[in-house]
Amino acid sequence: MKERETTSLSGALGRSSEVVVHHLLELFEETFGAVDGAVVVRAPGRVNLIGDHTDYNDGFVLPITIDRDVYVAARSRGDGLVRLHSLNYQEDLEYALEAMPEFASITWKNYVAGAVEELRRGGFLKCGFDMLIYGDVPLGAGLSSSAALEVAVVFGLEAVDGFDIDPIDTVLLCQSVEHRYAGVQCGIMDQFASRLGRRGHAVFLDCRTLDHEHVPLPLAQTGLALVMADSGVTRELADSQYSERRAACERIAAVAARSDGRVTALRDVDLDLLDRISSSLEPDLLRRARHVIEENVRVERARDALKKGDFSTFGTYMNQSHDSLRDLYEVSVPELDALVATALEIDGVLGSRMTGGGFGGCTVNLVKQESVGNLRDTLVRSFSGRYGREPDVYVLKQNHQTERLFLDDPID
Ligand code: GLA
Repeated sequence: MKERETTSLSGALGRSSEVVVHHLLELFEETFGAVDGAVVVRAPGRVNLIGDHTDYNDGFVLPITIDRDVYVAARSRGDGLVRLHSLNYQEDLEYALEAMPEFASITWKNYVAGAVEELRRGGFLKCGFDMLIYGDVPLGAGLSSSAALEVAVVFGLEAVDGFDIDPIDTVLLCQSVEHRYAGVQCGIMDQFASRLGRRGHAVFLDCRTLDHEHVPLPLAQTGLALVMADSGVTRELADSQYSERRAACERIAAVAARSDGRVTALRDVDLDLLDRISSSLEPDLLRRARHVIEENVRVERARDALKKGDFSTFGTYMNQSHDSLRDLYEVSVPELDALVATALEIDGVLGSRMTGGGFGGCTVNLVKQESVGNLRDTLVRSFSGRYGREPDVYVLKQNHQTERLFLDDPID
């Protein structure tokens, strides 16, 4: 019965928001008994167009929201109880708002209860609530399903409890959920993109100041498309390697600070300074530093190219970024490299790169619309010939952002 519910809901996704909301509210009523006063919100995942492993170095990133989201239906309760149900996992969690449980392992519960706890401690959340959660952001694909979950929970509770929280504070709170409750020392990009990304735009973010700019991305009008290809490699090594890369960057910045007291992060190091300190750094650290320094420059230039409508230059920066992540930062895997190499052989592909933390996940491809079919067929044929399984390939829609959804028709 529960499985059927999830299946029928999946079937509804991809259709209009009204249909999804209708299904969610039906399931909410089945699970919690009533829907009066319920709200439904969604928060999207993200794909990063350029600027990877720069956010935790105080650098620049350029992500966009994707049309895959986490949906939350919620309503307040008078008795201080928190009652949660995950449709994806078919699991419940119930506790008193003041008494967050401890968890033996990291699951969806840590992210949700962690966000709730941070809101309570911050003096925002005062009431208990019922909440139904459903997501269609692919898990482990580097598309920030956990950031979407955190943002959806906070945004949903804002509506339910009626408190006001600044969007930037939401982003910081959600990042601290990853740090404190999931043990992942991530940067700020994913939560920022999910909460502040805007449909039809990329968001250029300075991760030091959090200054940002929504840059229009008129794909349809320019005859272009963004296509994701999921390698299906789940990022098993990702967490330990991510921490190792982050620690390496902090070491480089500390060495650089001894030569130039103004350096507080790798963002402040340029190639000249790197050259001056090179004798104090092992070869692998030099490669890591070069990636971050050059990637920051590429992100700014790629943003400028986008503003001028120069998509071909933009694509070139994407390609350079992939090479750098593969050869200097060493976070790619053969499956991602194969997807990129195959894509770049196709006429009409302007740029192709891995996206996100690496060690698996997806590539993102900028391609002329007339070449999308050929790109899809060629990726599937070539990848399955080599690895014996088909990659998921899909064209992104640019129409999602964090938002409250309203149901126009009352439920039967
Ligand atoms: C993961 C992290 C982000 C960012 C990327 C790499 O997605 O959550 O903060 O560091 O990796 O760019």
